Amino acid sequence: MSNELNQKIYVAGHRGMVGSAIVRVLNAKGYTNIIGRTHAELDLTDQAAVRNFFECEKFDQVYLAAAKVGGIYANNTFPAEFIYDNLMVQNNVIHQAFKSGVKRLLFLGSSCIYPKLAPQPISEDALLTGKLEPTNEPYAVAKIAGIKMCESYNRQYGKSHGIDYRSVMPTNLYGPGDNYHPENSHVIPAMIRRFHEAKINNLPEVIIWGTGTPRREFLYVDDMAAASVFVMELSKSICDQVTLPMQSHLNVGFGSDITIDELANQVSAAVGYDGRIIFDVNKPDGTPRKWMDSRRLKNLGWTPKYELHDGLSHTYRAFLAEQQHQKE
Ligand SMILES: NC(=O)c1ccc[n+]([C@@H]2O[C@H](COP(=O)([O-])OP(=O)(O)OC[C@H]3O[C@@H](n4cnc5c(N)ncnc54)[C@H](OP(=O)(O)O)[C@@H]3O)[C@@H](O)[C@H]2O)c1
Repeated sequence: MSNELNQKIYVAGHRGMVGSAIVRVLNAKGYTNIIGRTHAELDLTDQAAVRNFFECEKFDQVYLAAAKVGGIYANNTFPAEFIYDNLMVQNNVIHQAFKSGVKRLLFLGSSCIYPKLAPQPISEDALLTGKLEPTNEPYAVAKIAGIKMCESYNRQYGKSHGIDYRSVMPTNLYGPGDNYHPENSHVIPAMIRRFHEAKINNLPEVIIWGTGTPRREFLYVDDMAAASVFVMELSKSICDQVTLPMQSHLNVGFGSDITIDELANQVSAAVGYDGRIIFDVNKPDGTPRKWMDSRRLKNLGWTPKYELHDGLSHTYRAFLAEQQHQKE
């Protein structure tokens, strides 16, 4: 497939953190025909509405970045919604994309598809080799089904219909447009909020759960979006060199991880908080390490551009702008 800039592209979830970053990257590259629909305009769990939409619009490409996303609290509290909504959204989008003649699609999954005890760094072939982390198992099962949907459609219809549906599995992401909900946010937005509140209230210390020793990997969302477009633009023959028909997903990570202690210090510096950071060692730590092996993608020439301190500065500026916007 050529990469002409006038191809009609649907970004599902274009107002979300990742979807909006994909739109920014596509715009910057000069793509001219990018379409989005808000959740209110098009509920992607509604099969008939999704069918009508795809039949009317006739897209060339689809980025599937719409999903029900949340932290441990939300995953544990609403497991039925996490499995139902995600299966419905991806089944509807992938199937109707196929029925309406979309040749190329990118499905966004997550590192939680991998077994809880997968060897580190986690490579693509660790998929389906062990038990998942129980707290987000329903979400992970839906994401695994999404990868297998793409692969199965490729295997059955790839040659006859010329389709090529791909999947990328991001590590932990952060950046503008993140969710700062007090109970339901990921580690970086949660820390940004807490250090910011401590700064404006002149609090002497911020308490972080656990020992600070677990290691995690973080990728700035614009790097993830660039990787998504990079994968979408790969020729089939190049993509086939690093994937298999039944192992087609590609990891997208920063390449190295840091401790929660180091992260807390970097977030505190980005926010400009100069109080103390205390670790509450009586609170649980979670998995000791979660680090993706992204060599397959990197060997094809993709590399992240944003170091953590730069990404955190951009993210904090976006957080302040959002706070200002909410006040007005
Ligand atoms: N954030 C991360 O750290 C991370 C890490 C790994 C993978 N990912 C993956 O990246 C993708 C995007 O995540 P994100 O962080 O950008 O999430 P997000 O900011 O919550 O964006 C998701 C978007 O999907 C939309 N959406 C959800 N359900 C929908 C429905 N039924 N119909 C129409 N639109 C719907 C949401 O709209 P509403 O808000 O209006 O519902 C939102 O705009 C997901 O597949 C996620 O698994 C994210």
